[in-house]
Amino acid sequence: MERFKNVFVFDHPLIKHKVAILRDKKTGMKEFRELVEEITTVMTYESMRDVELVPVTVETPLEKCVQYKFPEESVAIVPILRAGLGMVNGVHKVFPTARVGHIGMYRDEETLEPQEYYCKLPDGIENKTVFLVDPMLATGGSACDALDALKKRGCRKIKFMAIIGVPEGVEKVAKAHPDVPVYVSTLDRQLNENGYILPGLGDAGDRLFGTK
Ligand code: PRP
Ligand code: URA
Repeated sequence: MERFKNVFVFDHPLIKHKVAILRDKKTGMKEFRELVEEITTVMTYESMRDVELVPVTVETPLEKCVQYKFPEESVAIVPILRAGLGMVNGVHKVFPTARVGHIGMYRDEETLEPQEYYCKLPDGIENKTVFLVDPMLATGGSACDALDALKKRGCRKIKFMAIIGVPEGVEKVAKAHPDVPVYVSTLDRQLNENGYILPGLGDAGDRLFGTK
């Protein structure tokens, strides 16, 4: 996004294709869950370009050479409950040994204010690159509060990934946390009067878990 250096909107044909199916109200729970995971994996690849590698010596069948790998145990995943859970496997496809913390947030349906109800993070998270994940970035309240909660617990290298965002939510997070890269696969038009994203995909948690 031109106005904010820390906002990255993907313009990837594979993501566009999958998001189109994800939005469709006829897409059922199983396919929805699989798509969220697949889109997250593609986003994780794209958002890793600046992750630091360490040199290691590798012996091929022919000779020794210096190669570059991720430091062991350098990544953690933190989903914002509930809907963020749907993205965990997508990051795990890329970083299978990443530990997982959880932050529970729900939006008060009247005020749209996020309420934190749970936080459990792996030991040593402050030294890891943290992928904070939530499919929907609407008003931005949940993401901002989750980022505050992570920073309060010492996290310094955080990346926030959402599948769908809207300009006002993205702007709120980008302004409140200029040090955090914000990755959204798609930027939608606007919020409706109930804080739902238009055109959006409806309630991500309900569609992932079949609660409606
Ligand atoms: C949804 C979504 C985000 C939040 C986004 O969660 O998964 O966490 O809303 O809205 P915001 O940007 O306006 O804060 P919801 O509160 O519906 O909870 P759920 O994941 O348990 O369904
Ligand atoms: N949360 C959702 O699940 N969907 C929206 O459109 C907005 C917030």
